[in-house]
Amino acid sequence: MSTLKAVRGTRDLLPPETALWNRIEETARRVFARYNFGEIRTPVFEDTALFARGVGEETDIVSKEMYTWEDRERFDVSGMSSSWLHQNSGFTHSESNVKLGEHTIDLVITRDATLRTHDQSPSPITVTELVQFKPELKQYDVDRLIELVEEFVTSTGNALVLGKLVVPETRNLQATGHPDTQHRVFVEQIAGNFFQSSQRLTLRPENTAGVVRAYIEHNLGETGQLQKLFYIGPQFRRERPQKGRYRQFSQIGAEVIGPPSAGSESPLRDAEVLEMLATLLDELEITGWTLNINSVGSAADRARYNEVLRAALADVAGKMCGDCQRRAVTNPLRVLDCKVEADQAYIEALPRMADSLDEESKAHFAAVTAALDEAGVEYTRNHRLVRGLDYYTRTTFEFTHGGLGAQNALLGGGRYDGLSEAIGGPKAPGIGFAMGEDRLVLTLEAQEEAKAEKVDAYIAPLGEGMNAAALALSRELRRAGLRVELGDGSFRLKKSFEAADKTARRIVILGEDELKSGILTVKEFASGEQSKVARTELKMILAMAAKA
Ligand code: HAM
Repeated sequence: MSTLKAVRGTRDLLPPETALWNRIEETARRVFARYNFGEIRTPVFEDTALFARGVGEETDIVSKEMYTWEDRERFDVSGMSSSWLHQNSGFTHSESNVKLGEHTIDLVITRDATLRTHDQSPSPITVTELVQFKPELKQYDVDRLIELVEEFVTSTGNALVLGKLVVPETRNLQATGHPDTQHRVFVEQIAGNFFQSSQRLTLRPENTAGVVRAYIEHNLGETGQLQKLFYIGPQFRRERPQKGRYRQFSQIGAEVIGPPSAGSESPLRDAEVLEMLATLLDELEITGWTLNINSVGSAADRARYNEVLRAALADVAGKMCGDCQRRAVTNPLRVLDCKVEADQAYIEALPRMADSLDEESKAHFAAVTAALDEAGVEYTRNHRLVRGLDYYTRTTFEFTHGGLGAQNALLGGGRYDGLSEAIGGPKAPGIGFAMGEDRLVLTLEAQEEAKAEKVDAYIAPLGEGMNAAALALSRELRRAGLRVELGDGSFRLKKSFEAADKTARRIVILGEDELKSGILTVKEFASGEQSKVARTELKMILAMAAKA
């Protein structure tokens, strides 16, 4: 039998790596708490329309990468039972979801009836009915009900028990079975639509749309306060998997959203979010990141810039790659994302977004950068940063890291002042970001690997008689803060060299001559250079090399 494996683009996370994931999440939670963010957890799947309207039908994420399915029609048993109860009356007792052995009866009722005896005199009796609600009539359900009626008669000693199978009037009745009057089981039809229609659902490819949907659904805007919400969880995109790009990946994100009266449009919010991110990356001990920022302006600015770009591209697109030629017509902004080397000169010469911004957007962006300058957060203005989601307005940003290769975005985000209205909510400007947790882990692992690099020196005693002297030399160097591996005098010189090459940057040979003369033989593996070093200078030389 073929073995089953995790689906392409998904992964198992195992110890010890999971410890790093937990450390990242704990650090993020601690930092978010300091900035007064609270956690939000939204479902991993949503109505497809949310992403189509929120993220944008034309984006790569929505048009190519979503996991979407048709959720089939569902039978609403509780709606049907309450409707049936409403139409039937005159019970003396009713109880729902009654356990009978291993089975559950939807409803057990008792009603008073009148029985005519053979002398025709009426005599009052009480009848018990076991009622089951089903989407259609199936012989299997009739048979099961017959069994349950019989079991009920036996266990209660009550002879007057009827079974009733209630099905919607519109469903095919003749097709599959018949009521069995002999066993006191009857079928009743009831009018009404008891089916919840099918729905198109999508595994969330990102979480901003879901958070804004929840903001609207729970009327969070009515508090009049800014909502500061963070989330940690899986997202799903059908992308071509590669290092740092998966089909199930995890994001740590946060959103600041609220009515304009709460200050949600203020550039200070943008700067505060960016400052928080710089702090978070520092606390995660991620070094060497770059913050790229830009402004994509208002929706009107973007539309204007699109036209400016379209016109400029009309002259040069023919000389560019196939993707650019297509985008020059369908979505000129996306041309700015092109990575093809030969196209770069053309792209750099295109008009810039900054020149299409209106005065308000320009002033907003200037206020964001002024606050970042004041707070000492370093950034680079990247005129080509437009981001791949349609909801962005004004500030957009990405933190990149050189160690990540092609997928170099550690995190991305921006302002989305019109998103709430686009999905039917009130005016609720917002700004937020999401970091790729998988990419944070890769970056930290690479950093730790670099740190766990070779030690500064390997001390190789020549002969067992030199072991004690080698320990003394190691102690001296280690006490000076150097990382030292100590060999063993029983090793032949070749074996010492091999062991040293695997663990250390240099080998220091300590034989009787070296001990007497105080001049040691040192070989650096990277350059292959061998030199004589005075023992008194060894510490200093190794320390300088370690810092270089
Ligand atoms: P995004 O740029 O699509 O933005 O994704 C944010 C981050 O998620 C990326 O920078 C990257 O680190 C990570 N990421 C995206 N796709 C993958 C993948 N296939 N595998 C691994 N990591 C991935 C958003 O999702 C927006 N919702 C961010 C936002 C929040 N904007 C405003 N608020």
